[in-house]
Amino acid sequence: MSSLTALVLAAGLGKRMKSTLPKVLHRAAGWPLLLFPIRAALEAGADAVVCVVSPAVEEAVAAVLASELPGAPVTVAVQAVPRGTGDAVKAGIGGVASERVLILCGDTPLVRADDLRALIDALGERELCLMSALLDEADGYGRVLRDERGRVLEVREHKDLRTDAERAVREVNAGVYVARTAALRTALGQINAENAAGEYYLTDAVAVAARGAGAVAIVGHADNLLGVNDRAQLAQAESLLYQRIARGHQIAGVTVRGDARIDAGVTLGPDAVVEAGVTLRGKSRIGAGTTVDVGSVVTDSQVGERVLIKPYSVITESRVDAGAQIGPFAHLRPASEIGPDAHIGNFVETKKTRVHRGAKANHLAYLGDGEIGEGANVGAGTIFCNYDGFQKHLTVIGPGAFIGSDSQIVAPVRIGKDAYVATGTTVTKDVPDEALAIGRTAQENKAGYAPRLKARLAAAAKQKKAGE
Ligand code: UD1
Ligand code: MG
Repeated sequence: MSSLTALVLAAGLGKRMKSTLPKVLHRAAGWPLLLFPIRAALEAGADAVVCVVSPAVEEAVAAVLASELPGAPVTVAVQAVPRGTGDAVKAGIGGVASERVLILCGDTPLVRADDLRALIDALGERELCLMSALLDEADGYGRVLRDERGRVLEVREHKDLRTDAERAVREVNAGVYVARTAALRTALGQINAENAAGEYYLTDAVAVAARGAGAVAIVGHADNLLGVNDRAQLAQAESLLYQRIARGHQIAGVTVRGDARIDAGVTLGPDAVVEAGVTLRGKSRIGAGTTVDVGSVVTDSQVGERVLIKPYSVITESRVDAGAQIGPFAHLRPASEIGPDAHIGNFVETKKTRVHRGAKANHLAYLGDGEIGEGANVGAGTIFCNYDGFQKHLTVIGPGAFIGSDSQIVAPVRIGKDAYVATGTTVTKDVPDEALAIGRTAQENKAGYAPRLKARLAAAAKQKKAGE
């Protein structure tokens, strides 16, 4: 097969977004909009991609591409002034050496590789092939005008339509094309800006091709061609993307319920279950047989197999190993590492803490900057006092240790293997292996004192009420 370069046009102003962020860097389902057409083009067989951008966003786009698609054959070309889609293609086609070019828009995130493949196949030996769609409401789009035998004559922009018959045409140009590079270069040399918008229209190249070796249009699904111009369309596109992503996982053997939102960059193993109201973000990986229950939010985290993430847990930039149980209402902050079969229960917050195999912290705890040994048990209300107002310090708890409830562990400190910290202890010194640390005031019992105390308190209350 001959080589193919994709041009992604993204030098428009994007004014309707009303944003300081370039339109194509707004995110939908976790990815900057621009990434969707680029990935679709690569998936459809493009050997290289050139993004045509305005000078103002060149650096920002290049930085995003370097971080999101490292090593991919994607470069950036600059269109100095937005003088129309035809001019944008001229700006991008300069260095293209491939025999064919695929042209897409940067703001159409629903475009699919399958549709692009069909378009490429339909080109055959012709000069140009474009994708169209049938819309009930075609206002604003360029119309595909055909002759009485159905052959494509031209695409006429909405502003340039002349008759009611033209305005009644429901077949619109989707803005996705494939063309022979040499023929397109020639056609671009013939177009001018004599139209209602005063722009160089790429669509005029369609008419040139139609007069030459021929242009064809294939009809795609309208949903896949939705363009994002404002934030209402951004929301619409994102909700269609989430539906499509969920369906892809469902077909692959994942249960996805209700309105779960799974970002484009997330992977899920077979038999994973994603309940309603869950959000899986960024580059998260969820292992086989793992359940993420209602309302949990997992961002850029690795979750192993058969993990149970109970409702309303929040996990960020962390790792959870096979068989662990998290939540409900647990908060794993960045760099938490929860080992196999460990339990992190309700209202437990961890940060930069490693919890080894089978260790448990089941209720109400703050575990920051620590290490908790295999099989250790951390009682309710335990706090790692990791911060002195200036520096963070480390807490190390040995394997098999038992930390009684309501203990404060003042870091830096080490608690030995199989050691025992009595409930309510403030640990400020290292505890040797197998030692008992107890640091609470001794209890005193006063025989028969309770009734006397109650009588005294009741009398005081009565006196106060009488005085009011
Ligand atoms: C274009 C088509 C129209 C089609 C519609 C589909 C033309 C003349 N018209 O119209 O037939 O129905 O898309 O959505 O092509 N861009 C640049 N530089 C420019 C101008 C635009 O890079 O100077 C980029 C934009 O960032 C955008 C794409 O090209 O990604 C399309 O431009 P836009 O202004 O949205 O074209 P439409 O008027 O929608
Ligand atoms: Mg548009």
